[in-house]
Amino acid sequence: DIASLKDVFSPYFSMGVASTASELAPAPSKELILKHYNMLTPGNELKPDSVLDYDATIAYLEENPDDQTNPQVNIRAAKSLLDFARDNNLSVRGHTLVWHNQTPDWFFRENYSTDSSTPWVSKEVMLKRMENYIKNLMELLEKTYPTVEFYSWDVVNEAVDPNTSTGMRNPGSNNTTSGNSLWMQTVGSDYIEKAFEYARKYTPKGCKLFYNDYNEYETTKSNYIYQILKDLKDKNLVDGMGMQSHWTMDYPSIDMFETAARKYASLGLELQLTELDISQPSNKDSDLQAQANRYKLLMNKVIDLKEEGINITAVVLWGITDRTSWLGGYPLLFDEDYKAKPAYYSIIEGMKTD
Ligand code: G3I
Repeated sequence: DIASLKDVFSPYFSMGVASTASELAPAPSKELILKHYNMLTPGNELKPDSVLDYDATIAYLEENPDDQTNPQVNIRAAKSLLDFARDNNLSVRGHTLVWHNQTPDWFFRENYSTDSSTPWVSKEVMLKRMENYIKNLMELLEKTYPTVEFYSWDVVNEAVDPNTSTGMRNPGSNNTTSGNSLWMQTVGSDYIEKAFEYARKYTPKGCKLFYNDYNEYETTKSNYIYQILKDLKDKNLVDGMGMQSHWTMDYPSIDMFETAARKYASLGLELQLTELDISQPSNKDSDLQAQANRYKLLMNKVIDLKEEGINITAVVLWGITDRTSWLGGYPLLFDEDYKAKPAYYSIIEGMKTD
C-alpha cells in the first residue's frame, strides 16, 4: 500500500487533480482521487462552452425580447464531478469564467446568433452578459451544491498574447488556431478588471480569485502578467496567481520557476501550481526515471519556497493518469493502468521529514 500524496504534503499545501467527467467515471480513477487528492478541478465542465445553455438563452430572449443581457446557464456537464466533490468533501477549483477559448462565438453576437455574418454586441451589452453569466452561474452552484466549497475560481484565463508575451491577445474571432480573443474584440483590455469585479461581487464569501496562465515562468511573460496582477491587486480584486506549470523535460529550469514564483508572490498573492504535468513522450525506464528526477526537483523547490514563507497553497496535477492526459505520452504521476510511476515515488521520497 502506497503513501497518500495529500497526507504526505498536508503540512505544506493541498494536493489537487483535474479530471473530466469521463476520466472520473471508472472506479480506479475515483479510488486514486480519494486516496491522493483533496482538491478537484473540473477539466472542461465548468468552462463557458459547457455552462452556457444555448436553448435556454434563446428561450429567455424570445420571452424577453428587450433583454439581450441575460445568458442562461446549466451545470449538467459538471454533475458527476460536483456530486463526487460534495460526497467526498473535496474542495473545488472553479475553472474558468472568462477565456478566449472554449467560449462559443454566439455568446458575443447580437441575438446570440450562430450566423457568422451577425455583428458582435456593443461593449455595454457584452459587459452585462459577462456580469449576468457570472451571477447566474454562482447562484445556480450555490443553490445546487450549497455544501461544496469552491476554494477558488480562475476568473480570467490566458489573457496574454502568446506570440509577443508583451500585451493582450489580439481582438478577433476566438478560434483555437488564431488564439484571438472575442473579449478583446467586444470589450477591450478592461474586460479583465470587469471580470474580477463581477467575480468579487458574486462568488461565495472567502472564495479566492485567481488569474491563471501558461508559460508563466518565462521572463517576458511573467513581467507582463505581473503588471496585470499589480493593477488588480491595487484594487483588491485578485487573491492568487495560478501558475499552470505545463513543463517539458528541459523547460523551464527550476531557477526560472523560482524567479517567476517570487515575482508573483512579491505582490502579496497566494500561488498555486494549477495544471502541473511534465511532458514525456517516451516510457523507457530511463526516461521515466529522468522525469521522476525532474518532478522531485520541482516539488523540493516548492517546499523550500513554502518553508521560506512564499504562500503556495496547492499543487494540482492536470489529469489523473497517463491514460487520459491531454498531452498524450506519459506526463503524469500514475500510468495507464492506474499504477504509481517513478515520478510518484520520487516526490514521496524527496519529502523532507525533518
Ligand atoms: O466536446 C467535444 C466533442 O463533442 C467532440 O466529439 C470531440 C472531438 O474532438 O471534441 C470534444 O471537445 C474537446 C474537449 O476537450 C472536451 O473533450 C475538444 O476537442 C478538446 O480540444 C478539448 O481539450 C481541452 C482543452 O483544454 C481545450 O482548450 C482539454 O480536454 C483540457 O484538458 C484543456 O485544458 C487546458 C486548460 O483548460 C487551460 N490551460 C491549458 C490546458 C491544456 O490545454
